Amino acid sequence: MSPTTGAADRTAVITGAASERGIGRCLARRLAANGWNLGLIDLDREALQSAAEEASAAGVRVAAVACDITDADAIDRAAERFEHGLPPVSALANIAGIADPTPLLETSPQRWERVLRVNATGTFLVTQRFAIGMAQRGYGRIVSLSSTAAQSGGGTYSAGAYAASKAAIEGMTRGLALELAPKGVTVNAIAPAIVDTDIMGGRITAERAPAFLASLPVGRLGTTVEVAALIEFLFGSQAGYITGTTVNINGGARIG
Ligand SMILES: NC(=O)c1ccc[n+]([C@@H]2O[C@H](COP(=O)([O-])OP(=O)(O)OC[C@H]3O[C@@H](n4cnc5c(N)ncnc54)[C@H](O)[C@@H]3O)[C@@H](O)[C@H]2O)c1
Repeated sequence: MSPTTGAADRTAVITGAASERGIGRCLARRLAANGWNLGLIDLDREALQSAAEEASAAGVRVAAVACDITDADAIDRAAERFEHGLPPVSALANIAGIADPTPLLETSPQRWERVLRVNATGTFLVTQRFAIGMAQRGYGRIVSLSSTAAQSGGGTYSAGAYAASKAAIEGMTRGLALELAPKGVTVNAIAPAIVDTDIMGGRITAERAPAFLASLPVGRLGTTVEVAALIEFLFGSQAGYITGTTVNINGGARIG
């Protein structure tokens, strides 16, 4: 596949695509509006169905598979469905994830393993499955959601286990970027600070906002549209010289 092939000839896979107010859902809307075909994955079957219908209305081809990203067999079945029903997968956004604000000293081994399993292992399983085809075809874009927490250790609604899981994603991103650079596949992470989605333990109401805003020099929360726009840019053919990096999108929460 040539890097200049248009979006209409390509498919982007998005995990975590269902949540109505979430980053993945916003990305699905944006990419569909810009002509990308979509393979959507999420645990939440009902919301995923609605995300798929919404994206299809833009006139692109959409397939959606409800499954858990920690289930390698289910991911394999989803990938086979996308491979048979859609144009080649040339972009992957690893957006599915869970939060955890539990202080490390209060984190049970089971909780630690669940957070690492979903955020780190799940991202690994999905990435490995789709990266193989990209490498074979000689072109691809992979973007995974890290978090400012990977640098700061946590914040108002995250703590050590979550930070560790996102740091694992960043390490994997660099390792895979090295492996895939000669194959025309870029691999990057992005690290948002605070976006008002359901993962933040409910809406960031006026009452809760001051605690979050205190860590944000720009004086406002980030938006799902801003994060989706960054992913779309990294998916583009002109982003081919950016690989193995973490792009901060954090309103100045971490500078330098
Ligand atoms: N919102 C923020 O402030 C913020 C900041 C930094 C990073 N992030 C990261 O952005 C990503 C998206 O989060 P969001 O804010 O849109 O939250 P969200 O809760 O709205 O979306 C997460 C989606 O992932 C899905 N999901 C969770 N576990 C899954 C699993 N095991 N298998 C398949 N799907 C699963 C959920 O059903 C949901 O649709 C996450 O990885 C999160 O860690 C968010």
